[in-house]
Amino acid sequence: MPHVIEWWDKTGASLGEIRSKYWPRLTGATPVSCFVIENDDQEVGFIQTYWVSDFPEPIAQLCPHSLEQAASLDVFIGEPELLNGGLGSTVVRQFLSQVVFGKMNARSCLVAPDASNTAAIRAYEKAGFKLETSSGKARGFCRYYLMSCPNPAS
Ligand SMILES: CC(C)(COP(=O)(O)OP(=O)(O)OC[C@H]1O[C@@H](n2cnc3c(N)ncnc32)[C@H](O)[C@@H]1OP(=O)(O)O)[C@@H](O)C(=O)NCCC(=O)NCCS
Repeated sequence: MPHVIEWWDKTGASLGEIRSKYWPRLTGATPVSCFVIENDDQEVGFIQTYWVSDFPEPIAQLCPHSLEQAASLDVFIGEPELLNGGLGSTVVRQFLSQVVFGKMNARSCLVAPDASNTAAIRAYEKAGFKLETSSGKARGFCRYYLMSCPNPAS
């Protein structure tokens, strides 16, 4: 969907490219845990998490403190009619509690949305993330915000 491609795999991957990128995540060969988001029994989105130490950029460039036991996540809601109704922030909040701070027991969660991705920044904010800092150009095409959410139990 255009609203996803704008911020995610901008190149617009083919089905074959998607298979070769995501299959190793499903088999465990790539250390990224992937989940389909269900809403009212419909598959409506995707969320994934990983340790920042396995994929340090761009967060490592922005983060002034230790990345030890820090996780990150990426999320999209694929159905345009479900956007801006609170679903994204609800999913992220639930995912932090069940997976990132639950099963993984991460010390913190760090995300680095594009500084112009207002919807994502607002959704992360509503899910409990706070803005830490922003960067100049990273990876050559955009500016990122660094947002963090500590594990409430640590
Ligand atoms: C990021 C994403 C998951 C958020 O999902 P969502 O269900 O729309 O999230 P929410 O409804 O909980 O929050 C979105 C907030 O952004 C606000 N918003 C959206 N577009 C906005 C804009 N252009 N300007 C200002 N605020 C905007 C909404 O009004 C809402 O805030 P509010 O509840 O205070 O009114 C969804 O937009 C998405 O899938 N985007 C494409 C992929 C992406 O960018 N992923 C994140 C990067 S990894």
